[in-house]
Amino acid sequence: MALVIVSRVHPSSDVWAPEMRRLMPEIDIRYWPDVGNPDEVEAVLMWQAPEGLFQRLPKLKAIFATGAGVDAILGDPTVPKHLPLARLVDPSMTAEMSEYVVLQVLRFHRQEPTYAAQQRDRVWKVHPQPHPEQRRVGVMGLGELGQDALHKLAPFGFALGGWSRTPKALAGVETFSGADGFTRFLARTDILVNLLPLTAETENIVDARLLAGLPEGAFLVNCARGRHVVDADLLAALDSGRLAGAALDVFRQEPLPADHPFWSHPKVILTPHAAALTNPLTATPQIVDNLRRVQAGRPLVNLVDRTRGY
Ligand code: NDP
Ligand code: OXD
Repeated sequence: MALVIVSRVHPSSDVWAPEMRRLMPEIDIRYWPDVGNPDEVEAVLMWQAPEGLFQRLPKLKAIFATGAGVDAILGDPTVPKHLPLARLVDPSMTAEMSEYVVLQVLRFHRQEPTYAAQQRDRVWKVHPQPHPEQRRVGVMGLGELGQDALHKLAPFGFALGGWSRTPKALAGVETFSGADGFTRFLARTDILVNLLPLTAETENIVDARLLAGLPEGAFLVNCARGRHVVDADLLAALDSGRLAGAALDVFRQEPLPADHPFWSHPKVILTPHAAALTNPLTATPQIVDNLRRVQAGRPLVNLVDRTRGY
């Protein structure tokens, strides 16, 4: 079984191979573009396909993504539609994402941007602090990451809500689904967290209409994809005061161009797509399990549904 790894780092610093070889000693690992005999390669591990990959590997049986979101792969017309695609569901990545969400929600809840600005100006002024049950936090996307984030937010006592494509029942969370539930979900959300996959249906979802549907002075936390957000609409909502602040981890163009207004906007807190990083140590068992499934002709775990787009 030969696997090709497409990596931005030199093979000598690759962190996947040692753990893979430990769990599957018989594995034959090759690094793109040195694929050896292409007819022996049955699987590829990648974030995005380099040019020419699929012409060079005609015997591929599966694609393994190194991320949870697979929009970069599904949006590539050169990726053969018949190949099964498995995404990552990595416990360490899930935990990191929830840390990020809890951090940003608490930051806005406890008015940290206001106090940070006051410290810069040496202003001593106490603001009334809303109780957590008065703060309505709403998560868009109730999958692996959205559900874990809600679970980790629960002990703080926030009024939790969630929105998904299909109906869900989650203890302690007011749930909404589909287009019908969207307006009601937005109207009850003071801090909106985006954990949707990027699909044809969700692209540009954070636009003027969504922002107008939130209560005045709401906050946005976007840790899913930059293309969920219409940047000009977000900037207009921040400038008008309709939105009180935004924590952004992902951007339409990454790295974020140096002249982008988000960098210096007083109401924006940003991180460089670092909310949750893939951890090869915790992610490798899933890849190895899927490699064995390819060998045995069994269905993959965490298989992406190409019709849904996630
Ligand atoms: P999942 O596939 O597990 O969950 C997706 C959720 O979104 C599901 O609840 C699904 O609804 C819902 N959804 C999909 N389409 C719609 C729609 N049109 N309307 C309403 N709800 C919809 O994904 P994960 O939780 O694993 O990951 C979410 C995203 O987080 C990834 O796709 C990726 O873009 C991003 N991410 C960002 C990282 C970062 O570092 N910033 C790191 C990792 C991931 P249903 O339950 O009904 O199917
Ligand atoms: C992912 C990401 O989707 O890191 O895994 O953004």
